[in-house]
Amino acid sequence: MSERTTAAAAGLPPRHPEKGFAADPLDVLQEGHRVHGPVFRMPVDGVETVLVGTWGGLGELFAAERDHLEVLNTPLVHDLFGRALFNLTADAHGQARQRLRLALSGRALPGYVPALLEVAEPVAARWARRGTSDLHREVRELTGAMSARVLLGIAEDEADAARFAADFETFVAAGSAPPGTSRFTSPRYWAGRAARRRLRALFARRAAAVRGKPDGSALATLVAAFDGAPTAVGPLEDHLLALLIAARETTASLVTWYLVELAGHDDPARAAAQEVLAVPAEPELLVRRDALPVLRAVLAETQRLHSPNLLSVRETVCPVTLGGHLIPPGSRVAYSPSAGHFDPEVFPQPRDFRPGRFLAGQTNTSRLWAFGGGAHACLGRPLAELMTLTAVTAALRQGLPRLPAGPPSRIRYRPAKAPIDPLPFTLECQEPAS
Ligand code: HEM
Repeated sequence: MSERTTAAAAGLPPRHPEKGFAADPLDVLQEGHRVHGPVFRMPVDGVETVLVGTWGGLGELFAAERDHLEVLNTPLVHDLFGRALFNLTADAHGQARQRLRLALSGRALPGYVPALLEVAEPVAARWARRGTSDLHREVRELTGAMSARVLLGIAEDEADAARFAADFETFVAAGSAPPGTSRFTSPRYWAGRAARRRLRALFARRAAAVRGKPDGSALATLVAAFDGAPTAVGPLEDHLLALLIAARETTASLVTWYLVELAGHDDPARAAAQEVLAVPAEPELLVRRDALPVLRAVLAETQRLHSPNLLSVRETVCPVTLGGHLIPPGSRVAYSPSAGHFDPEVFPQPRDFRPGRFLAGQTNTSRLWAFGGGAHACLGRPLAELMTLTAVTAALRQGLPRLPAGPPSRIRYRPAKAPIDPLPFTLECQEPAS
């Protein structure tokens, strides 16, 4: 260890004031990193937290993660999700990831394209006919239906669709019950626990039905992957709850901001609308990384400017050195996926929406962290990007996005970045070129 590192390791990271965090957390994090570098301390939700960010800081955090840090989930999250992936540690976590990946990797995606288009196209046609009174609410419904279809094989006209939607809503609402022991006095918590039981029964019934009878969803692969799995890797039903929750809000956030940005930027919107004309004849373009360059550049720029997740939180299980500071066990550590997304040296004019920076030969998407990194990096990235491109393609085939009342003026950052107020949205049908 160098002399400088030894000296620095003697002290905790510098402290940054939390002032303004509730209103504009990204600005506060960015300022913290500008002043203090990759690691600093700040209270988050009243708890002292070591914040790690920037390219170098994240690399160091992810390298140390396996043996030194665990995901910090509240007792409420443990109750609701049981032994779902993000509640597992060490080997059990690694093994469960391997099994889930079989159904979520890029290789599995082409099989999901027809089902996803079948869900998205009628919804986008309805948006074009009627407009929507709230873009984010409608997009949440769409990503909910897409997730149900692709992860569970539930089509919208099945009786299970309404049952699943109602119980899942109640389950999600339980996530805002108090996180500690006072959850036991919350009716929302108990309603969520009852919904969890019904959802797990529904998953088990559908898993039994899909055995040996693939239905274009991920379920058959998942059932085969968890058949005979050791108890430690957790039951498939718990993992399905985690996948559904991970898929829905975050993807809804990304689709919402994608459409918001296109509504405000006519040139990329028109270029993207031109590109989607090829998709009906060749739907596999949606999963080819070398296809649809404008749509993919807008996807990358939307991830950069509007990362759905604000913070991923860990707890140190033994001492760890980050940025030259020795962090004791039991400390809260968090990283913001987008803390480095506004670095002007990597992304010139970082506040501007400039999808062109991601077109061939320009900025590399490897500096984007919207899907996290390290041991708990998002397993659903390929599927999330496919769902987003499918939703946007379906919308652009109907018309160009418009926001009659203008862009969102108030934003919330948790659980996923979204407009606070209803956001009127229409798709403006284009005259065919003569
Ligand atoms: C735009 C959409 C999405 C975004 C931005 C996103 C982002 C993230 C991030 C940042 C993490 C890391 C959290 C951490 O470090 O603690 C994560 C984890 C995870 N995501 Fe996603 N996600 C998205 C969609 C999905 C989808 C569609 C699925 C699956 C169907 C999924 C499944 C998961 C799972 C299972 C984990 C936990 C991994 C683990 O603990 O090992 N995500 N996601």
